[in-house]
Amino acid sequence: MQIKVVIGTIAFMLVMVILGVAALFEPARLGETTDAFVGRQVEKGAVLFHENCAECHGAEGKAIDCVDFAGEEKSCVGLPLNHAPLLCGEPSQRLQQVGWQSSKANYVSQTVAAGRPGTLMPTWSQDFGGPMEDYQIDQVTAFVLNWGEDPELCGEEAIVEAVDWPDSWEDLPQGDAANGPGLYQINGCAGCHGDPDNPGSAAVGPHLGNIGNVAATRVPGISAEQYIYESILNPNAFIVPECPSGPCAEPSVMRADYGFVLSEQDMADLIAYYLTLTSAP
Ligand code: HEC
Ligand code: HEC
Repeated sequence: MQIKVVIGTIAFMLVMVILGVAALFEPARLGETTDAFVGRQVEKGAVLFHENCAECHGAEGKAIDCVDFAGEEKSCVGLPLNHAPLLCGEPSQRLQQVGWQSSKANYVSQTVAAGRPGTLMPTWSQDFGGPMEDYQIDQVTAFVLNWGEDPELCGEEAIVEAVDWPDSWEDLPQGDAANGPGLYQINGCAGCHGDPDNPGSAAVGPHLGNIGNVAATRVPGISAEQYIYESILNPNAFIVPECPSGPCAEPSVMRADYGFVLSEQDMADLIAYYLTLTSAP
């Protein structure tokens, strides 16, 4: 009889201990399940990204080294996504720049779902006539956001302060036009503005073969140098009337983040180079 009570008590205590221990570990286990879920999202998103997005945004999401489906090199027309101004901080610099009121995850998933009308960014969600289901939008979004977990991108040391741009181009360093063509390529200008020697090659933005002359005439009272400077820093300051496929869209479809990407020297070199482009259109 007594033995039974003892066994009963021990059994009861054991059950309580096991339950208690289980309860203790429950939050940790939940965390692991969530991590594993996010991990799977990111893996599936990576596949979707390489199949659908890398062509324009680059395999590493840096808007460099783009290849088409046949494996041929092509210019990257998309924005960099694996990019501190977009991914670091909540809100990130990019979200502040466009005045986005919701989260970064929302910014990415909505851009992907709906695309950017008037730009080359396609619509992806079936809700808007695209090819992807909502869960695939979530997966590719998880993959893009995951770049922001990299301490080399968003760690304290990593965030590169944007240049504090002077108001006037005259306060930039001396420019070297010889560096211009290289900068024009690596920063993706050619993807939209084409080859300066070939007027038919501009697909999205105005052909710049005569920009050295044109720039001086765009805005009364603003010099060619200052106009080019402002066009690069803030594409919306002035919208060019004519683009290759009709009137240029407003807001501008030109990449708006060159202020975060270029150094002062790059900027000076690009301006110097553009002044040399004076072939008649
Ligand atoms: C045909 C080229 C092209 C493809 C393919 C493409 N994009 Fe884009 N994407 C663009 C362009 C161009 C922009 C910039 C639009 C603009 O100027 O507002 C852009 C912008 C974005 C942005 C917003 C970036 C920002 O800073 O505002 C995100 C996010 C994005 N793309 C994700 C994706 C994802 C994910 C895929 C694949 C599912 C994809 N894109 C496929 C061309 C493309
Ligand atoms: C995603 C496409 C795109 C990219 C990339 C791009 N631009 Fe543009 N750019 C445009 C469009 C569209 C316009 C015309 C609309 C406007 O006024 O913003 C334009 C306008 C300009 C103008 C004014 C042209 C004129 O005739 O008045 C200059 C200068 C310019 N871009 C320079 C650059 C430089 C330099 C780069 C690279 C560092 C670059 N752009 C990258 C699309 C682009």
